[in-house]
Formats: sequence, structure tokens, C-alpha cells
Amino acid sequence: MRTEALTLFCWICLSALLIEVNCEQQEAIPEENLLVFTVATKETDGFRRFMSSAKVFNYNIKVLGRGEKWRGGTYMSPPAGGQKVRLLKSALEKVEKEDQVILFIDSYDVIFSSGPKELLKKFQQAKHRVVFSAETLIWPDRHLEDKYPYFTEGKRFLGSGGFIGYASNLKKLVADWSGKDADSDQLFYTKVYINPEKRIQINITLDNKCRIFQNLNGAIDEVVLKFEDGRVRARNVAFDTLPVIVHGNGPTKLHLNYLGNYIPRVWTFETGCTVCDEDQRPLTGVKEADYPLVLIGIFIQQPTPFVTVFFERLLNLKYPKDRLKLFIYNHEPHHEKHVKSFLEVHGSEYRAVKVVGPEEELDTAQSRNLGADVCRQDVDCEYYFSVDVEVVLKNPNTLTILIEQNKPIIAPLIGRPGKLWSNFWGALSADGYYARSEDYVDIVQGRRVGVWNVPYITSLYLIKGSVLKTELSEKDLFNSANLDADMAFCHTVRNQGVFMYITNRHQFGRILSTENYQTSHLHNDLWQIFENPMDWEERYIHENYSRIMKDNLIETPCPDVYWFPIMTDVGCNHLVEEMENFGQWSGGSNSDTRIQGGYENVPTIDIHMNQINYEKEWHQFLLEYIAPITEKMYPGYYTKCTSYLNFVVRYKPDEQPLLAPHHDASTFTINLALNSKDTDYQGGGCRFLRYDCSIQAPRKGWALMHPGRLTHYHEGLPTTGGTRYIAVSFVDP
Ligand SMILES: *[C@@H]1O[C@H](CO)[C@@H](O)[C@H](O)[C@H]1NC(C)=O
Ligand SMILES: *[C@@H]1O[C@H](CO)[C@@H](O)[C@H](O)[C@H]1NC(C)=O
Repeated sequence: MRTEALTLFCWICLSALLIEVNCEQQEAIPEENLLVFTVATKETDGFRRFMSSAKVFNYNIKVLGRGEKWRGGTYMSPPAGGQKVRLLKSALEKVEKEDQVILFIDSYDVIFSSGPKELLKKFQQAKHRVVFSAETLIWPDRHLEDKYPYFTEGKRFLGSGGFIGYASNLKKLVADWSGKDADSDQLFYTKVYINPEKRIQINITLDNKCRIFQNLNGAIDEVVLKFEDGRVRARNVAFDTLPVIVHGNGPTKLHLNYLGNYIPRVWTFETGCTVCDEDQRPLTGVKEADYPLVLIGIFIQQPTPFVTVFFERLLNLKYPKDRLKLFIYNHEPHHEKHVKSFLEVHGSEYRAVKVVGPEEELDTAQSRNLGADVCRQDVDCEYYFSVDVEVVLKNPNTLTILIEQNKPIIAPLIGRPGKLWSNFWGALSADGYYARSEDYVDIVQGRRVGVWNVPYITSLYLIKGSVLKTELSEKDLFNSANLDADMAFCHTVRNQGVFMYITNRHQFGRILSTENYQTSHLHNDLWQIFENPMDWEERYIHENYSRIMKDNLIETPCPDVYWFPIMTDVGCNHLVEEMENFGQWSGGSNSDTRIQGGYENVPTIDIHMNQINYEKEWHQFLLEYIAPITEKMYPGYYTKCTSYLNFVVRYKPDEQPLLAPHHDASTFTINLALNSKDTDYQGGGCRFLRYDCSIQAPRKGWALMHPGRLTHYHEGLPTTGGTRYIAVSFVDP
């Protein structure tokens, strides 16, 4: 019994082995027998992507129909594609070798994810002379469903976007073609396939488990990225296959764009971006006079903080101004003074300046259409750089970096500090709005670095003038009945098959919040400490403040009196100007209705922060920038910076020149010099009587911090000329 079983087992064993050997014995088709035919009437961005993926694997590609006018319809208006059959038929006539294997494939929406060897092996394993890609969805005639042969597993319907076969069989396949260019190729091939006689005679099958072809239409959820040492493939999780060719047919172009950011090895975990330095347009070594001419379109669409800073940054952009033209659209009367003062001083440095003001009452789309048109109508305009005024462009090399990256449309990634918001979308929802792509967070947070093909960008982007003048020549580019201007723009760009990229290869900057921006003050930016704290800090906090602890910049001019830089010159000026603009200085008498009890022991000529509604912001300033120093210098003392008296004092020889010795109603006091001795005033300073110690040369932007009472009985020394301003806070009364 045992031997019998063993014999039987061995027999099974052996036959399995034989079949295996048999398989292996079938000779592999040599790679040089493979020729790829594709139809491309234009070199679109998709075509270039197709060709570069083909180059990775050394495919031998023959492009049919180059320069021909595309008459095969678009994917927006199917059915179509007859032109492709005609071109294939005539190309096949020139193929003489009967054992030539032809892969016929679309190109605008196709990426190779593996090479000829694997393709040919899988073709052989299909055991048919012609293998068509398969589809989940039937197209274009669903009434033919019953005529399709059944498979026990896999996809049932034919897709014409990709097939592979022997030349002799393909000739038979297209022999009867006499259709028009605008007829449906898919319907034509379907009719051959569902005809049992022809199917057998031409020997056609479908790649129904996506071993070779992955059509994405109706199958997006089946496909995931598969990262494997140094390369990336698509993997079909429904059939556990690794398709060789990925085809974004139908409305799946954007998903293909996403996959194309990785496949076949555009970006991998091991290498990062492998193509980011390819096809650059280097500007190093280019003479300044030969720099490409750029039109910068600046859009002020709403009241926005830090507009003057925006223009300072624009000025600091590293690019020859003689090669820059400006188009400024300003919708806001409030900002007219900012635009004007920038242009008065610097306008003439630029090659040309065009300003459109609020009186034109353009809406967002109209103003953006106008900007784009200024570039279109200018033969010299090589690039159009669109910048919204709320963009904080920190990187002065941005424009050069973007030009060198050499893409049709590219945006530098900018975000909001600490938020996931950014100026691009990684995916679109079904109704065309925001959807989060799998890699969105990694890109925003810089864990994946590269140049990414994305469906939506906004706020800041560079467009090639040539693209604006051809594919995007539509005058109403930004206009749409139901989409906002940027969505309308991106919609058109996508429909034109133009790729939009976002780059996060450098730090570029961020974007301001324009919410809660009041315009009722003279220097409204002062009030931005809550809404845009980073910008507030850059504008108003002294450049050396951040290193006062580390580098021991805190001085001790008198016992327990600390002295350190805290506010910028601009900050000091704004505060003084704001107070002078408000103008209601107190009379300096003992009776004071502004304070509790109505009696001021040591009156000064001053304005309280709460009179200009600056109490909350000032408290935040104390908390954020003073409290850490207090806690450091007076160890063991913790403060929430409770302070009811915060004010700016004005000293003038003929008004109030000095302040008699006094204690402050505080645990500690902040005394911040808002202007400069000798430049703005003479005399001034502060003396601590107990130590007979004076600070006679206060420094603008530096604060004194001292205990309020008991030991630090002090006086304000006489101002002998000009006007001196200080900001004072009595903290923890
Ligand atoms: C189809 O072609 C394969 C491979 O050449 C062959 O083995 C098979 O018999 C053919 N089928 C028909 C129905 O002719
Ligand atoms: C900051 O410190 C450096 C040297 O430490 C000095 O040169 C510079 O002037 C300081 N900045 C300001 C605004 O005072």
C-alpha cells in the first residue's frame, strides 16, 4: 500500500514537473521583437510622462500621428478613437516580420510600471495571439453585454486603450476597418471580440485579471502603490497582480497623475525624487540682461495685514528688476496708500508697472483674467507669476527656483503655521472640491519632498507664457458660473491636459490669515498678534530678542534692574504714531477718570492702551515676550502679567519734562523706550534713588524691567529738548 501511494504521489509530482519544464521550455520572446505603437498628435505633458516612463525600461516606441490634427474626439466627448485604428492599420502595413509583437497603447494617460521582459512573459502566459486590456465597465454600448463571453473570475469587458499581439494577428484584427476618425475604436474592437468566430480565428483574449494592463476607470479602489526597493509599481489588490501598464482611462486622469508622482521610480522612499533635477532651465551663468521676462500679477482682493511688508519682500526678490513687469490689482481703497507709497519710491525700478484700482470694481475672475491677458498680449512675456497679497514669500529665490524647475505651471508650497492648510489639493472629490490624497499630509509636512503633479493650486504660482498663449488662451480662464476663480482656472488647466505642479523642495513661506482684520486704526498690523503671531513677531519683536538668554544680552544697569532689546524700530514708531494719531493725551493732573478711584498720585501726560483698544494685544505681548524674562531674572516668581495700567507717556520740556520720585503700583514694571536719545530728544532717563544709579542713555526698543516698590524708588529724569516717549506697564499690582 505504502509503495503504491508513493508511486502515485511521485507520478503526480513528475507530471507537475513536466508541465513546469514544458512551460519553461517555451522559448521566451526576444525583447527586440517588441515594438510599441502609440498615437500622439501633440506632445502633451501626459505624453512626456509616458515617454519618460518608457525610457526607464528601454521600450522601443514608435509614435503615430505626430503633427496630425487630432480628430479622434476627446475623453470629454466619447465615443471616439477611430483615428487610432486608421493609424495602426497603416503602420502595420509596414511591419514585415510576422513574429513581430506589437503593443498598441494610448500615451497621454498611460505609464509603464515595468519592462518589456515582464510584459512579453505575461503575454506568453496568456496563451493567446492577441491580448486586450479588460474593463470593469462596459463601454460604449451596454446592450452588447450578453454577447460577451463569461469568465469565472475577473473583468469581462474589452478596453481598447491597450492591447498586445502578433503583427500578423493584429493585421487581421484591423483588416475590416473602414470607419471614420471620430468613430469609436472601442466599439469596433468589441464587435470583433464578441464575434465568436473572429475571436477564435484572430485568437483574442482579455487580460481579465490585470496582469498586463490596469485600466483605472471603475477600478481606482483596486489599485494601490507598491513600494519595493528603489521602484514603485501599481498593485491590483482584487487579483493580487502587478500590472505592467497603468492607464488612466475615462475620468481617472487625476488619479493617474497621483500614481505618476511615484511610478515607476519618480519618487521612492530610498531615493526621494529622482526626476526633480531633470529638464531644468538653469539660470546660473545667465547674464542678468538675458533673464526671462516675468510679469508679476499681484492681487489685493481683501483687507490684508502686513501689506507694506509684502511690498518690502517683493522688492527683495532676487531677480533683475529690469526683467520684471508688475501688474497690480487692488480691490481695497484701504490699501491704496500702501500701493502708492511703494510705487512712488520703487515703481521706476521695474521694467513696467500697471495698476488697476478699486474704482474699476472688477470681481476676482475679471481681475485675474486681466492679469493673465497682460502677459498673453506681451510677446516678451515668458512667465506669469501670480501672487496674492496674503502670501508671505520668505524665500527671495522663489522666482528663480520656479523658473529653473521648468514646468508648465508650478506653485511653491506654502502653508499656515501649525495647520494642515496649504495652497494645493492632492485630490478632488467627485463634485470637484477638496479631497485629501493619501500623501497630502506627508507632502505638507515635508516628509515627502519633490515636485508633485496635483489637481489644484492657489495663491501663488508661475505659468509659462507659452502655455498661457496656447493651451490656456481662453480669455475667460478664471471665470465660471459656479466655481470660484481659482477653481475655474484649475478646472480649465486640467481639461486642457496641462499639468500643474507643487514643489516642496525648498521652504518658500506661508500665508496670512485675513480674518478679523480691522482697518480702523492707523497701524492695523499692531493688532495682529493673535491672528498672525509669526508675522507680528517678525515685524515688531527686536531681531536680537530671540538670543537674549542664550547670548547673555540682558544687561543689569542698576541692582535688580534688567535691560534688554524687545521691540523693533518699526514697532516703536507704530506705537508712537498710533498714540499721536489718537491724540487724546491726558492733562497730567491728579484727577483721572480713566482709573479706578479717579485719583492719580503721580500723573503723567499719557494715553492708556485701552483707550486705543490695545489692552488685550498688549497683555498678550507681555505674556509672550516679557513673562519668560521675568521668570528667568527673578527666579521663583511666576506671572500671568496681570496689568491694569499700560500706557504711553510723553515727555516734553514745555509740557511734562520729568517725573518726581515715586513707587509704582506694581510688583514689577516694564519701561520701554520708544524713541532715540539725541535724535528725537535730549536728556531723559531714569534714576533709582536708593542705589543712586541712573540709566541716562535709554535705547530705542529696549525695555527696563525693575521691581515696582520699596527698593526701587525712582524718578524720570528731565527731557531737555524734543519729545520722548516710553511705554509703561505696571505688572501684578
Ligand atoms: C491561440 O494561440 C495559442 C498560442 O499561440 C495557441 O496555443 C492556442 O491553441 C490558440 N487558440 C486557438 C483557439 O486557436
Ligand atoms: C543685534 O546684534 C548684533 C550683534 O550682536 C548687532 O550688530 C545688531 O545691530 C543688533 N541689532 C539691532 C537691531 O540692534
